[in-house]
Amino acid sequence: MPDPAPPTPDADPTATAAASARARRKRSTGLVLPRLAWALTGSGHFFTETLELVAAAGEVDLFVSKAAAEVVSMYKQRLDTLPASVRVIKDTTASAAPIGRFYYGDYHTAIIGPATSNTVAKCVYGISDTLATNVFAHAGKCRVPTIVFACDTAPEMDTMAPKGMVKVYPRRVDLDNVERLRSFEDTEVVETLDELTAALRRRKLV
Ligand SMILES: Cc1cc2nc3c(=O)[nH]c(=O)nc-3n(C[C@H](O)[C@H](O)[C@H](O)COP(=O)(O)O)c2cc1C
Repeated sequence: MPDPAPPTPDADPTATAAASARARRKRSTGLVLPRLAWALTGSGHFFTETLELVAAAGEVDLFVSKAAAEVVSMYKQRLDTLPASVRVIKDTTASAAPIGRFYYGDYHTAIIGPATSNTVAKCVYGISDTLATNVFAHAGKCRVPTIVFACDTAPEMDTMAPKGMVKVYPRRVDLDNVERLRSFEDTEVVETLDELTAALRRRKLV
């Protein structure tokens, strides 16, 4: 007797419920779905240039952690001047409530960047207690491909502080955590702005 036909994706009740929830939200909000989820952390490394990429990437949900919200103004940047296609989501809940959208298929890709050594360490050890670390954890649990733009990637680096360029010497633990992150499922680690731009271009996002 031949094997029964494999179930079609439509036969999966979870996938069907998520698709109809997404369709309802699309109608009621006018949002283009699925979108790019981009999490900002409190890193100043290429902060201004990263915001330019966010603005160019089109339909973006920008998750702004508490540290990121502070750093934005230190670099004299503003989030309220980003294009209307960028929806800014601030870290105002203990449960990271906006993250629930990952479970309805709202996102095709997640980006964490620039990512502080703190955020990278938490991601590696499975801690999710900020909006950015929750984006990483729940993108992973929903099998959404994720790009992490890590900052502390070499023993000696130049980085832009609010008052100009400074030297930073990432520690062994910071470098080791970036290496550990590379082994995660569905995760691409990029180290430079050029690599981040190339990863976005490959996905036709900029
Ligand atoms: C202006 C400024 C720039 C910073 N840049 C970095 C950075 O490049 N890398 C880093 O690991 N931490 C940086 N920090 C420190 C982080 O913001 C701090 O460790 C924060 O607790 C990280 O929280 P988060 O990982 O939730 O964003 C910076 C802080 C300030 C005030």
